[in-house]
Amino acid sequence: MKNYKIAVLKGDGIGPEIVDEAIKVLNVTAEKCGFTVEYDEALLGGCAIDATGVPLPDETVAKCKAADSTLLGAVGGPKWDTLPGSQRPEKGLLGIRAALGLFANLRPARIFEPLREASPLRADIIGGSLDIMVVRELTGGIYFGERGRLEENGVQAAYDTEKYSVPEIERIARIGFDLAMKRNKRLCSVDKANVLESSRLWRETVTRIGREYPEVELSYMYVDNCAMQLVRNPSQFDVLLTSNIFGDILSDEASMISGSIGMLASASLGATGSGLYEPIHGSAPDIAGQNIANPLATILSVAMMLKYSLGQPEASDMIEKAVADVLNEVRTPDIYVEGFQKVSCTEMGDAVCAKIKAM
Ligand code: IPM
Ligand code: MG
Repeated sequence: MKNYKIAVLKGDGIGPEIVDEAIKVLNVTAEKCGFTVEYDEALLGGCAIDATGVPLPDETVAKCKAADSTLLGAVGGPKWDTLPGSQRPEKGLLGIRAALGLFANLRPARIFEPLREASPLRADIIGGSLDIMVVRELTGGIYFGERGRLEENGVQAAYDTEKYSVPEIERIARIGFDLAMKRNKRLCSVDKANVLESSRLWRETVTRIGREYPEVELSYMYVDNCAMQLVRNPSQFDVLLTSNIFGDILSDEASMISGSIGMLASASLGATGSGLYEPIHGSAPDIAGQNIANPLATILSVAMMLKYSLGQPEASDMIEKAVADVLNEVRTPDIYVEGFQKVSCTEMGDAVCAKIKAM
C-alpha cells in the first residue's frame, strides 16, 4: 500500500483547529482510496517563537524537505505583533516558502453553487460560472527585495524594493500558461506597467513566453483595473498571472466573490513537486479556540495536495465533491444563511468525512 509522509505545520490561532479537521478528512479519504498517511508535526510562526525563539526553526525546514508534502494552517497573532519585522511569525511563513523554493502559488477562486447567496456580489454580476486561478509569484518581488530604514535630512524614511529577474518571471509565466492550457486557455497578466519598470520587464517577458503557447489567449491588465474588474465582471477571467504582492491582494479580493475567505485553498509549488498547501486566510486570532472556524479551505488544500503533489486525483475529486455536497446541508458561521444547519468547525469536518465514507 502506498504510504505518504506529510509534514504538518499547524501554526497559530485557528491553525490547529482547521488542520485537525483536514487531517481527519485525509485519513478517511486514504482509507477509502487504499493508501496510508503518516504525519510529522513541526513548529512555524508564533508557536515556534514561543518554543524556540525563532519563527522558522531549522528542524522545521528539514522535516518539510524530508516529507512528500507539507500541510500548513496559519501563522501570526496579536501576541507577536510588536516584534521587529525579522522576528515576526510571518517571517517564518516567508522563510519556509523561500527555503523550499516554492515560487508558484496557485489560488483557485470559484463559486460553489450552494454558496451563491453568501457572495457579496449580485447573482447577475457573478454570471453563469466563476472559476479563476490566481497564479502568484511567491519567492520574489517586494516581499524579498532589499528593504531598510534611513534618515534623510533629519527625517525618518523606509523603503522596500520590487525587483524581478527574467528567469523568475519566465518560470512563473510558464506555470501560468501550462495551467491555462489545461483550463480555458485564457491568461491575463497583471502588472502596473504604466508606472513600474519591474512591471515593464514582467510584461515583455510574459509576452515572449506567451509565443510558446499560441493557443492561449494572452491579455494584460493594470492591477488597479483588475481589482475593479474582479467585482464588475469576474467571470471574464480564467488564469490571472501576478507578482507576489499583486497576487496577495487580488487573491483576497477574489476569495470574497466565492462567499467567504474561509473557502479558499492554495498550493505553493517549486521545482520538486512536493509543495506546501495552506488556506489563503490567516490565523483569525479573534475566533481561535472557539471551534467556529471554517475548516473547508484547509480541507480543500488537502484536495489540492492529493492532485498536485501526491498523484491521487480521484481522492482529490472525492474531497471536492464531498465539500460541494455538505454545503447543501451545513454551514459554519462565516457562510451561514437561514435554512441551513449551523455547525462548528469539528462538525463541519465530520460532515465532510461522512460524505466521503458514503461514496
Ligand atoms: C498570504 C498571507 C501572507 C502573504 C502573509 C501572512 C505574510 O497574507 O499567504 O496571502 O502576504 O503572503
Ligand atoms: Mg494574503
